[in-house]
Amino acid sequence: MDLGLADRTVLVTGGSSGVGLATVRALLAEGANVAACGRDAGRLADAAAGLDGGDRLLTAVCDVRDADAVRGFVDRAAERFGRVDGLVNNAGQSRMKRLDDTTAEDWRDELELKFAGVLHPLKAARGHLRDSDAASVVNVNAVLAKQPEPRLITTGAARAGILNLSKSLAVELAAEGIRVNSVCLGLIDTGQWTRRHAAEDSGLGYGEWQARLAADRGVALGRLGRAEEVAYAVVTLLSPRASYITGTAIDVCGGVGRGIL
Ligand SMILES: NC(=O)c1ccc[n+]([C@@H]2O[C@H](COP(=O)([O-])OP(=O)(O)OC[C@H]3O[C@@H](n4cnc5c(N)ncnc54)[C@H](OP(=O)(O)O)[C@@H]3O)[C@@H](O)[C@H]2O)c1
Repeated sequence: MDLGLADRTVLVTGGSSGVGLATVRALLAEGANVAACGRDAGRLADAAAGLDGGDRLLTAVCDVRDADAVRGFVDRAAERFGRVDGLVNNAGQSRMKRLDDTTAEDWRDELELKFAGVLHPLKAARGHLRDSDAASVVNVNAVLAKQPEPRLITTGAARAGILNLSKSLAVELAAEGIRVNSVCLGLIDTGQWTRRHAAEDSGLGYGEWQARLAADRGVALGRLGRAEEVAYAVVTLLSPRASYITGTAIDVCGGVGRGIL
């Protein structure tokens, strides 16, 4: 099926690695123009070198916590491609901390990253999205938003807030023709987990470590997900074919989610 994304423009924050990079790749394969940002110029350049983006790919160094930098990123993309139809708020990371290990700074930093990561790009892109006939925002979130884990106490609370915010945004922006949805991830094999494996020094190879992790966390499918398995869901929600889907959250988690809602 043609997803109708050819020649449309999508912004992807955190597009230099993992889920963001897989989303950029999937969008380019659909014929979309893509603007991707991240903080590290070298990582962005390496990502771009591995993509067949040509003139349809723009990369920019930008920290989503910096409203002016985000505005500059969005303006550059709009100027280069002449339109913005989609926004994927993906940039971020998690904070492995329990209540007694967290400082006031941890709470502030975590909430700032998660909320700025959605609100700054949306604010900068809103006028352009309003002009699109198929505007779609996808917030990359986590099953953690609905299934708290004490070892990720700040991230879980921030994620729950973002899920709530996404619903409000879907209602608020519907009148402007902008759909807003979330994709809730379980354990996806990306830089986040390779870094954690390296930091843990468990003595296990990465494959073995992953299998143990999936078993410990009760992943029904028995393995971590792949970034491209998330990208397919994101791209589907971005597509004009999903024109009646807004305010929803799709779990891409291999069955680790235990809730029924
Ligand atoms: N992998 C999982 O199991 C999992 C589970 C639940 C939720 N998530 C969420 O899914 C999203 C993607 O994660 P991933 O696993 O693909 O991680 P990843 O491989 O570490 O990629 C994260 C991307 O975000 C960028 N980034 C981080 N902080 C940023 C900032 N302040 N401003 C701009 N870009 C920033 C990174 O580039 P720079 O470092 O160069 O900025 C990188 O491109 C994240 O929000 C993550 O929290 C992941």
